[in-house]
Order: sequence, then C-alpha cells, then structure tokens
Amino acid sequence: MNSLYRSVSRARGVHTGCALLRETPRNLKGKKHSSQQWLVRQLRDPYVEMAKQESYRCRSAFKLLEINERFKILSPGLTVIDCGAAPGSWTQVATNLTNAHAKREDPVGRVYAVDRLPFYPVEGATILGNMDFTSAKTQEALSEMLRGDKADVVLSDMAPNASGVREMDHDNIMLLAYAVLRFAVRFSKAQGTLVVKVWDGGKAQEFEENLSKFYGSVKVIRPDATRDESSEKFFLARGFKGLKTS
Ligand SMILES: C[S@@+](CC[C@H](N)C(=O)[O-])C[C@H]1O[C@@H](n2cnc3c(N)ncnc32)[C@H](O)[C@@H]1O
Repeated sequence: MNSLYRSVSRARGVHTGCALLRETPRNLKGKKHSSQQWLVRQLRDPYVEMAKQESYRCRSAFKLLEINERFKILSPGLTVIDCGAAPGSWTQVATNLTNAHAKREDPVGRVYAVDRLPFYPVEGATILGNMDFTSAKTQEALSEMLRGDKADVVLSDMAPNASGVREMDHDNIMLLAYAVLRFAVRFSKAQGTLVVKVWDGGKAQEFEENLSKFYGSVKVIRPDATRDESSEKFFLARGFKGLKTS
C-alpha cells in the first residue's frame, strides 16, 4: 500500500469529532444558498483536505487511487487515455503510476488527457484541452498521437453538466459512456482495461451487458471517495477480447 493511499485510508476514519468537520466557514456573507452549501461541504470533506495536502488538483484523485489499489490497473510503461480529464487529478495519478513523467528508472508510459475545457499541463502527459472527446476530430487527433499503437487503459471520468433532472442527466452520461466504449473497442490492446463513470439509472444494466461482450470481466465499483448523495458508479472492464479483423 503506498503512502498516499495510507493517508486516504486514515482520512476515511475521520468522524464528526474531527476539527475539519467542526470548522465553520467565515466567508459566507452575501453568497447564494447553493454556494454556501457547497462551501460548507468542501470544508467538511476530508478528501478535499487530502487533495490539498497531496497536491492533487481535486478530490477525484482518490477514486482512481482506490480503484488502482484494489485492482492494479496502472503500472509503469502503460499507455493511458484519460477522457474528461480536467482539472487533471486523474492525469496526475496516471502519469505517476505509469511513470509517464520518467522520474523513475521504470519503463516510461504515455498518458493522453482530453477535456472539452482547457486545463493546465501535467508533467509527462499530453494534454488535449478544449476538445470534445465525442467529436471525430478529437478521436483522429488521439489516433495520430498513438501512431498505430493502442491503449492499455482507457479511463473516463467524463460527466455532462448536471441539470438536476435525474433521468436526463443519466441519459446524457450514458451517451458519453457509449462514446468511450466505442473508442476503447477501436483503440485498446487485447487484454486492455476500461474504467467508465456513469450516474446510475435505467440504461446502466444494458451498458454493463454491452461491456461484457467486449471484455472478459466487468465489475461495478463505488469508491469510498464517492459522495454518499451521488449516484455515480464506475464500471471496470478488464481483458479486452480484441476485434476480429477478418
Ligand atoms: C468529474 S470531471 C473530471 C475530473 C477529472 N477526472 C480529475 O480527476 O481532475 C468531468 C469532466 O468531464 C468533462 N467532459 C464532459 N463532457 C465532455 C466531452 N464531451 N468531452 C470531453 N470532456 C468532457 C468535463 O468538462 C469535466 O471536466
């Protein structure tokens, strides 16, 4: 278990007696109720604090760290596509675990990180900001960068802007999930891995069945860092069966 993950595990043990949870925000005056709620939640969230301490750009890092800790999907030398990567905490984790930054003597991996928003560079990763993953242009760009190679791991933490209408948000995130699955089928190595976030709903079961057609095993994961009120879950699909070319 690495020291980062140990720290996160310790953070999980934080109870209501913790100083973080008792902290009272002092700068709420004049803010809308929703902003106040957001601030209070941030201050009470041990993962927000851990992300600050560990220099991650956001708390989502701990979801990927946990998935990796449990299932060992990332290792030095692997090629990773990170979809919906901004502000870049999964990219930070992937770059470190694959040694894409070449800071260790291990094999050097490659990380390509795509988001429709612009985001700051992550050392060792190739950043494709301002690019809609679902567009043909973006997928062409990724294909060119891979130069005939394929990905060991495709990650998607992509999420549309939430409207608050549960069914509509579910439908929209499932469109993104299918776009990632289609991409992964074209650009993954045999035995490759796919991690896809969805918000739970009526189409998730069928998506899982579709994943099973292309991957040897499919698991559903809800990392500890997922907020209790969130409907998110991650599909981990392993052992890409490959495509028959004839
Ligand atoms: C939860 S955030 C990702 C956080 C990121 N994994 C991290 O750890 O920093 C979801 C991201 O998906 C991106 N996104 C949504 N739709 C997209 C699309 N069609 N193409 C690319 N990115 C998209 C959003 O812009 C947003 O930055």
